[in-house]
Amino acid sequence: MQKIDIFDTTLRDGEQSAGINLNTAEKLEIAKQLERFGANVIEAGFPASSQGDFEAVKKIAQTIRSSIVTGLARAVKNDIDTSWEALKHGAEPHLHIFLATSPIHMTHKLKKTPDQVVDIAVESVRHARKYFPLVEWSAEDAFRSEPEFLVRIVEKVIQAGATTINLPDTVGYATPVEYGEMFKNLKYNVKSIDKVKLSAHCHNDLGMAVANTIAAIENGADQVEGTINGIGERAGNAALEELAVALHIRKDVYPFHTDIQLNEIKRTSQLVSQLTGMAIQANKAVVGKNAFAHESGIHQDGVLKERTTYEIITPELIGETSNRIVLGKHSGRHAFKDKAIALGFELNDEKINEAFKAFKTLADKKKEISEDDLYIILTDQQIQE
Ligand code: KIV
Ligand code: ZN
Repeated sequence: MQKIDIFDTTLRDGEQSAGINLNTAEKLEIAKQLERFGANVIEAGFPASSQGDFEAVKKIAQTIRSSIVTGLARAVKNDIDTSWEALKHGAEPHLHIFLATSPIHMTHKLKKTPDQVVDIAVESVRHARKYFPLVEWSAEDAFRSEPEFLVRIVEKVIQAGATTINLPDTVGYATPVEYGEMFKNLKYNVKSIDKVKLSAHCHNDLGMAVANTIAAIENGADQVEGTINGIGERAGNAALEELAVALHIRKDVYPFHTDIQLNEIKRTSQLVSQLTGMAIQANKAVVGKNAFAHESGIHQDGVLKERTTYEIITPELIGETSNRIVLGKHSGRHAFKDKAIALGFELNDEKINEAFKAFKTLADKKKEISEDDLYIILTDQQIQE
């Protein structure tokens, strides 16, 4: 089975979510957890963007030993020099340089010709390699770049010393088939591509970031980038916990493995949510509050008889203690009776039926029935016995 490296950018692209600002202590705590989670590369920040980020990246590089620590830099000398000061104490100093390659970005943002962009890319990678043994080069907006230009510039930056090539779908515009094709094209047409690691980096604007990332893996990517809980610019990045669990659960169709410790997922997700202040949507795959909750009677009855009827992932796999049987208006008698027993009530069938009727009447008026509600309903029947 092929190993896929995990590049976590929660502390860089993730922190670029509107409304998030982490201090050094918070970033360090998350970085330590990402190391336990099994990230191969941790992008700790953007050292040249602020003094605070510089300090945070430096502290993380000095502390983390089992994961490679990297930082983001523009393709300019000052960013690269500043990043070296922050990253030089890392276990394996690694720099991530990006430069846009799409016509839209080159024309309107960079105001450079394609030839000038090639020269800047080559020069910046050469400069970075004077310090760093590992340099990742990202073609920002790779997906909307001209395929021939992408082949040309990637060949040049590999010759200049890049050790990883990243092809981001910066604006989340790709479909899985198209994103996979881009990797296939590079694999086929860049002569020296096998000398480097090939990386995927997907945004979720159309809700396809994880699917696109998997398509990249199927077409030759060796590394994937993403964030915990999928946080990031706009609609966010590929959610690493979803990706890791999808590869694990569907290993029958995806012959790939990662170093991710799946039982650290819940803890990592909770920590990131707590320190960033970004709530996790209840129905989010894998880590949402409802990911293992069963509300309807038919589902509850199935799960109580045999969990695999409606659970393809066990909560324990990701470090969650148990599933939840939520009592609401769709719930059935089986789950209700089980809950009554769990709460210590021993009622005969007739009383259970009466209590169940009272519960249904209340459930029509409330979103979720609490244990206190159940105590009142069940105690009423007990008293009448
Ligand atoms: O989405 C993107 O293109 C990025 C680059 C900086 C790698 O985050
Ligand atoms: Zn990004």
